[in-house]
Amino acid sequence: MPLNAATQAARLSIAPMMDWTDRHCRFFHRLMSRRSLLYTEMVTAPALVRGGARHLLRFDAAEHPVALQLGGSDPAELAEAARMGANEGYDEINLNCGCPSDRVQSGTFGAVLMRTPDLVAECCDAMIAAQPAEVTVKCRIGVDDQDPEEVLPDFLEKIRAAGVKRITIHARKAWLQGLSPKENRDIPPLDHDLVHRMKAKFPDLHISVNGGIASLAEARTHLDRGLDGVMIGRAAYHNPADILLDADRALFGGAPGPDRLEVVEAMRPYIAAHLSEGGKLAQVTRHMLGLFAGRPGARQWRRVLSEQGHREGAGLDVLDRALEAMDRAAA
Ligand SMILES: Cc1cc2nc3c(=O)[nH]c(=O)nc-3n(C[C@H](O)[C@H](O)[C@H](O)COP(=O)(O)O)c2cc1C
Repeated sequence: MPLNAATQAARLSIAPMMDWTDRHCRFFHRLMSRRSLLYTEMVTAPALVRGGARHLLRFDAAEHPVALQLGGSDPAELAEAARMGANEGYDEINLNCGCPSDRVQSGTFGAVLMRTPDLVAECCDAMIAAQPAEVTVKCRIGVDDQDPEEVLPDFLEKIRAAGVKRITIHARKAWLQGLSPKENRDIPPLDHDLVHRMKAKFPDLHISVNGGIASLAEARTHLDRGLDGVMIGRAAYHNPADILLDADRALFGGAPGPDRLEVVEAMRPYIAAHLSEGGKLAQVTRHMLGLFAGRPGARQWRRVLSEQGHREGAGLDVLDRALEAMDRAAA
């Protein structure tokens, strides 16, 4: 059976990141790589189902293939949220089992679900039955004092039995007590080899590794060693050009991406449309600060955009000034 578009694209995915991978960020990333898979920020099922927050599902058609990440732990509510996502046209619905957030008012979600694989399987089952888009899971290797060698295979076994075929593993534990979410992305040690061992144990599952991968060369190494996909988060956000511009050529055998200046030009009509709807410049350009990272004048580009992008009435001329400042510094 031919792979669906999201599965093909999952050879390289850009991680779900709250407050970062919003629709503007994803549109910008998509200009640089047509082939990779983009994830939304986590949207909680209660916000969609009980809060009626449909606006959180908005995306641009250019973003495909794009996956909606859901947070939640109530099977019926997740099923309803998944249905809403599929109706909106998302290519994949992903369940978050990796965020180190505590129990919140709206229920349990994220990494704490590593403790309840039967419940996760029930959630996946309900989401799969409710709608046609593929249901995937993003998880950790364990939480707190769990032994990953024991709990991870059990977790994978159970969600596979529920019908999940594709999974992304953030290759470190989450420590649910005493670490902030940010610390939980850096302090618990990475164990990429464990993810490779899971692929050997579950060859029929499509498995992507996530955590600390900082270049396409590193991504390539994981793929060459037999993993199906690599997910990159922070490196892609902070240095989007280095990760995304060459991704289609290097990892998908496709055409190379545009150059950085072409990306800026291609953002102009998108930004103009956003401004004409009453949106603010910085809502889009804040995601573009790293576009020239490592290039002469990168600091000036970043400075002009961040200082002037927030001003009342800021328009596309801020982009011109940022480019001019960069050119002057580079000359
Ligand atoms: C600002 C920020 C927000 C994040 N929000 C989410 C989220 O909503 N859902 C999720 O599953 N992971 C979230 N993560 C974790 C990332 O998806 C990823 O697993 C983590 O950053 C490790 O990958 P990296 O080392 O390539 O960044 C977030 C990470 C960052 C930096």
